[in-house]
Amino acid sequence: MAKIHFEPKGIESEVPEGTNLLEAAHDADVPINATCGGAGVCGTCQLKVLSGTVDEEPIQHHLRHPKSEGTVLACRAKVKGGAEILVLDEGLTSVVGVKKRELSEMLFTSVRDALEPGDFSPPTRKLHMELAPPSLDDPTGDADRILRELRNKRGLANVVIDFDILPALSRTVREAGWEVTVTVLSKGNHLRLINVEPGDTTSCCQYGIAVDVGTTTVVAQLINLVTGEILEEASDYNDQVRSGEDVISRIVYAGKGDGLGRLHEQVADTIDRLMQHVLDEAGVEAAYVSAVVAAGNTTMTHLLLGLPPRYIREAPYVPTIAFPPWLRASRIGLKGLPNAYVYCAGSLASYVGGDITAGVLASDLASGEELTLYIDVGTNGEMVMGNADWMVACSCSAGPAFEGGGIRHGMRAVPGAIDAADIDPVSLEPRLGTVAGAAPRGICGSGLIELVAEMFTANILEPNGKLNRTVSSNRIRKAEHGYEYVVVWAADSGVGEDIVVNETDIDNLMRAKAAIFAAITLLAESVGVQMSDIARVQIAGGFGAKLNVGKAVTIGLLPDLPQSTFSYVGNGSLTGASLILCSARKLERSVELVQKMSYIDLSSNPDFMGRYVSALFLPHTDMSLFPSVEAELSSQIRTAAGGETS
Ligand code: FES
Repeated sequence: MAKIHFEPKGIESEVPEGTNLLEAAHDADVPINATCGGAGVCGTCQLKVLSGTVDEEPIQHHLRHPKSEGTVLACRAKVKGGAEILVLDEGLTSVVGVKKRELSEMLFTSVRDALEPGDFSPPTRKLHMELAPPSLDDPTGDADRILRELRNKRGLANVVIDFDILPALSRTVREAGWEVTVTVLSKGNHLRLINVEPGDTTSCCQYGIAVDVGTTTVVAQLINLVTGEILEEASDYNDQVRSGEDVISRIVYAGKGDGLGRLHEQVADTIDRLMQHVLDEAGVEAAYVSAVVAAGNTTMTHLLLGLPPRYIREAPYVPTIAFPPWLRASRIGLKGLPNAYVYCAGSLASYVGGDITAGVLASDLASGEELTLYIDVGTNGEMVMGNADWMVACSCSAGPAFEGGGIRHGMRAVPGAIDAADIDPVSLEPRLGTVAGAAPRGICGSGLIELVAEMFTANILEPNGKLNRTVSSNRIRKAEHGYEYVVVWAADSGVGEDIVVNETDIDNLMRAKAAIFAAITLLAESVGVQMSDIARVQIAGGFGAKLNVGKAVTIGLLPDLPQSTFSYVGNGSLTGASLILCSARKLERSVELVQKMSYIDLSSNPDFMGRYVSALFLPHTDMSLFPSVEAELSSQIRTAAGGETS
């Protein structure tokens, strides 16, 4: 065995000789980013060996984050004897923290308002009953006695009892003097008895939790299942971010050692933490939560259920299950909810999951006649095109740039995040907006899009994403890993250091936007429509209403369509999950939607890479696709030329 001492937190761990250093760190709960899941390509897992030695494997790839002097890649190093290790950068994990969302920011504060009249029908209900005690004349078993009562007095036949409630049942009914409240879960045509409480608790509300299980961010919303009222909402980074930045990295990580167990535990812990937070904030006891609906991409759903995601990544890309059954929360590691059942929204394919099903359910794409494009921009870019008659869907990997990940000063849209920017084309000085008007601490996804668009139109940035070396400004400088633009000087920042956008950040953003734009063009082509045929573009995802559409068009993320074409649908995945949680009709409808959608697999599409490469420019190599951007640039050149000659 070898002893490892992790600084600066002073965590001690003992592992067998030869253990991979990244696994050793994660086993010891030492947060280290490993955005490629340990594949040895990202360079985010760098550590410094202060004393002792480790065996390093040669680095096979050009790292996306260049290796600094005197560091080792944790995923490429094996423990050899004792060692003292310094963790250099906790990256995303250093800004983990629950973020509350105010009800005033929500599209609606009661789920009833988003449902048709009569559609409010949560999956669980409570029934109070006074049972006749058993006797020698009536020695019917305790559970059978309850089922008989449900059948004879409530007309509920074919109720199945959950085995998990049996061990405590006999004691509960006796201590309660045979007066109990039972909770029944409707699962389509089947009913399941999931809880028995002493006394009459029907006046104690039932609660449900809708969860958006994002690759980078997880959001939980507490809902009163009697009134439909939304009580609390909170989000946090998915603890899995330290084990891979995107779904492919997570699948790679899941295939190594106990990677699957660790990823399962990380997402379950994240959800547990968020649920506890919303319950505490609302003053609700966890015992009164009876149902949870989770919507996530197919990989996230597998990892939450503890299912190996391996075959999602191997042709022909098949998930283990598209429509998981209702499961007891404790069965999938959600330890904080003793009496709840969980439903995961169904998936269309390995890369179009329950989050998109929920999002389409929440939007009106499938009920209108107009050609509509629904885009969910996050770590993955997923999109659905169609109308009430037909729908096609596809997805691409975008990386975490839109959620502030993989960016030198990236952060979520919490107070202090730069979320808006204008750059004076003459002085090159930025004018910034931050979330809550706080001193700037970093840059969130929408802020990065605005900064890059402004840098481009101010001629600080070349179309190939490199800083313009010919521009003279003290804000443009060469740093250790290339050129960067200083957005905020240390003296004005809330973190005591300069906040910058560097060429690696821009490269990450350009790769993300290129993947999404390439996917949109292929989707349109596959159904024989032109971009100009699209009547509506509905934008869902992390930055939702924060996204400046004009600037997103400037960088070539969104198609160049009239501004009125675009609308925001907020977190479609979460909204859809809340609808499924509150309406049996919506749950059925979500299944119908999946059955109606067709899937286009971009990974096997020979045209995707070519389109992606063409889109790796600002805004695109084919400027005819972006006439409004071309016109704006031409007018600026004319203005500049006029200025020079005047
Ligand atoms: S290089 Fe080690 S996790 Fe990516």
